[in-house]
Amino acid sequence: MNLDAIKIGKRHRQDMGDIDGLAASITELGLLHPIVVTPDGKLIAGERRILAFQKLGRKTIPHTTVDLVKIVRGEYAENFFRKAFSPSEIVAITEAIEPLERAKAKERMIAGKGEGGSGGRGKTKPPGKFPEGLNGQALDHVAKAVGKDRKTITKAREVVEAAKTSPGLFAKIKADMDRTGKVDSAYKAVQSVKRQAEFEAAVEHGGEPKTGNQFVILGDCLAYLRETDAASFDIVVTSPPYNIGTEYRTYRDNVERAAYLVWLTEIGKEIKRALTPKGSFFLNIGSTGKDPWIEFDVAQAMRGLFCLQNHIVWIKAIAIDGVMQGHYKPITSGRFIDQAYESVFHFTLNGDVEIDRLAVGVPFADKSNIERRGHGIDRHCGGNVWFIPYETVQSKTEKFHHPAGYPVELAERCIKLHGLRGGPTVFDPFMGTGTTLVAAERLGLVGTGVELDSNYARIASMRLGQKAA
Ligand SMILES: C[S@@+](CC[C@H](N)C(=O)[O-])C[C@H]1O[C@@H](n2cnc3c(N)ncnc32)[C@H](O)[C@@H]1O
Repeated sequence: MNLDAIKIGKRHRQDMGDIDGLAASITELGLLHPIVVTPDGKLIAGERRILAFQKLGRKTIPHTTVDLVKIVRGEYAENFFRKAFSPSEIVAITEAIEPLERAKAKERMIAGKGEGGSGGRGKTKPPGKFPEGLNGQALDHVAKAVGKDRKTITKAREVVEAAKTSPGLFAKIKADMDRTGKVDSAYKAVQSVKRQAEFEAAVEHGGEPKTGNQFVILGDCLAYLRETDAASFDIVVTSPPYNIGTEYRTYRDNVERAAYLVWLTEIGKEIKRALTPKGSFFLNIGSTGKDPWIEFDVAQAMRGLFCLQNHIVWIKAIAIDGVMQGHYKPITSGRFIDQAYESVFHFTLNGDVEIDRLAVGVPFADKSNIERRGHGIDRHCGGNVWFIPYETVQSKTEKFHHPAGYPVELAERCIKLHGLRGGPTVFDPFMGTGTTLVAAERLGLVGTGVELDSNYARIASMRLGQKAA
């Protein structure tokens, strides 16, 4: 057919790829597939071939005529197995097919089949209730037509929408998605940028960014606590700076010892005021070989304020029968052995708080004990030595770019030991990257964390957005 007679309407492919290469291949091998047109000359498939023919200076092109009412589908079917559409192009095609599928779905529904596809035993849903957006079976049809699953299309669409609304923030992510074809990572990148933007907007307006049930607060915990009502929190789980020169981004972890203890005592006083009468304050702190008194000095500073109800030893690594389990930071020393444990001091106001020992208990090794000793269930107290290894990480990213985080399980065990009755509220004045709040979120509790450093607070917000990572 004559090239001039072909009518090229709105096309969904934007990237025409290597036309010179195609022209060379046509010169060498001839045209393997004729273009496809409707009886009135509208192009269904073959725009790249037409461009190649034009490049070669030809006037006519072999064609096949197909009477396709739905040009969009014809274009898709022809192209899918030739050169893959980019995710954005697939989104555009989905949007073009959508009204057709919606109409078909509506017909199915009126015929009593129902959107869910099972037919609903011949019941006819009122047409007025047909959803505006495309969903269920109809979206599955579209997904099948464009050769992607429903989830991928939905994600790609969100990336495309984000790039349309805020090109400054998302255009590059969309371009990367189209270049690599990786929809999932682009979608995650969009989510992460959105969360960051929300976080920054909230902080800028003096608000408290909330993710799930968790409040992430950027600021100084002492100032925050002084503004907090008495008896606001049921459980405090925290780990302050140890004053051992750890390299935080903002805080200087190397002050004179007496000043450090006075500062922590001030914070302890405010925690005491903010704690409910039957609340629990779990304070995690470790020492070093050179400075073995740190944890005891800090505990001693709290002694005048609280009762030490339990002292838990958190084991990070242990050798059993000559086999090492867990991880710790090895030191080079002729005097000190490696530190493979830290303390968790469980402080309460009067030492009389009922705890849930079995929530962090263990099953009986000898099951005959259950009946013989009158236990209702196969669980007994697990003791005050907790082996909780750090998860193995390969990079700083996996440690959330923070030098001193603890495992989520440590915070989770503390919260469970206090007990979950009545939905206690959780607080962490030295939130870091939000580990305590991740534990609170996993347990379905409301939590608040305060952090001095904006980067750590932002990471906490992102971790919570990723859902209890
Ligand atoms: C030992 S880290 C806590 C790590 C945390 N448990 C985690 O898992 O990510 C102590 C944190 O307290 C923060 N910090 C220091 N002074 C602070 C203050 N006055 N108010 C709030 N946070 C502070 C530091 O920036 C650091 O992130």
